[in-house]
Amino acid sequence: MTTTVIDGIGLLYTGDPEREEVAGAALVLEDGLVAWAGPAGRAPAADRRVDAGGRAVIPGFVDSHAHLVFAGDRTAEFRARMSGERYTGGGIRTTVEATRAAGDAELATRAAALVAEMLAQGTTTVEIKSGYGLSVEDERRSLEIATSLTDETTFLGAHVVPAGVDADDYVRLVTGDMLAACAPYAKWVDVFCERGAFDGEQSAEILRAGLKAGLQARVHANQLGEGPGVRLACELGAASADHCTHLSAADVDALAASETVATLLPGAEFSTRSPYPDARRLIDAGVTVALATDCNPGSSFTSSMPFCVALAVREMGMTPLEAVRAATVGGARALRRTDVGWLGPGARADLVILDAPSYVHLAYRPGVPLVHQVFQDGLLL
Ligand code: NIG
Ligand code: FE
Repeated sequence: MTTTVIDGIGLLYTGDPEREEVAGAALVLEDGLVAWAGPAGRAPAADRRVDAGGRAVIPGFVDSHAHLVFAGDRTAEFRARMSGERYTGGGIRTTVEATRAAGDAELATRAAALVAEMLAQGTTTVEIKSGYGLSVEDERRSLEIATSLTDETTFLGAHVVPAGVDADDYVRLVTGDMLAACAPYAKWVDVFCERGAFDGEQSAEILRAGLKAGLQARVHANQLGEGPGVRLACELGAASADHCTHLSAADVDALAASETVATLLPGAEFSTRSPYPDARRLIDAGVTVALATDCNPGSSFTSSMPFCVALAVREMGMTPLEAVRAATVGGARALRRTDVGWLGPGARADLVILDAPSYVHLAYRPGVPLVHQVFQDGLLL
């Protein structure tokens, strides 16, 4: 088997708390995994050499929250928002209509194009949710498409109640036939716990049904206002509570006392012109924070983790180190993955060489395409 050394690394962010940053570093890759990481002078010999030329290296981004299976376009809704209209989540139904009308091939092609767009920006692990089908067959096929693109698939039949359907009937469908059809294609169950979507009781019922079917839980919580979502996520041992934009002191305490990661999605606040979540408050309370894109056609049509890192630093009180940590090892925690999001012996060789001497440039040079090369499973893409 061939070994590759990447040396000449300006600054290596490892994601390993023991030794998070190494200046003048090298990495040795073998069989799709990292075999060695440390100062270049001590690197073991390898068959092939890649010279990073003083550039920084970080683990591939772990985007733990994205809605990539959809059709249609919501430019008009975005334009209206930028003229002063508020985001309510009501536009989800527009995308549901377009998604139901699209063929499987169109949905698969569009989702794959977004995954490729992400990869080009350094994202090597992505979670993909259903949630724009909202019928048994449309949710099932959304997840079937998602499984062809990632292992991190999430059943979000409980995104909103579809137009013209009684809410109680819909919860019964989601927890019954829809869950049965979708569970074979999903690792996770998610619910949009929010006024106008699903209340605390309905959300608990849906999450419990998903857990019983062998799925693990994550929750869209406290995006548009305070509510029971975050506390429910903590109570049920969800891997992640996502959004966390409007938090009470009790919500922060619950997160701090739990293993549940707070996944922050600043693309959504950017694209809905809303106040950003207070990452500083969460980190100071001891909460594990992840950053993700929330890539979807309505509230956050960005596939760019570098953009989210820059927003988190500028708008959410995170240091550059905290932001890059949240976008890599934080995302991995939110997906309960220990093989990605860091670079050390045994980790997957998913990494990004940045056209910059340090990861700090992700925030210092916002909007600039800094991804020089991406390695996935040890292979240069
Ligand atoms: O995470 N909050 C619910 N779901 C998406 C928005 C979906 C949409 O507007 O189409 C979100 O922001
Ligand atoms: Fe979302």
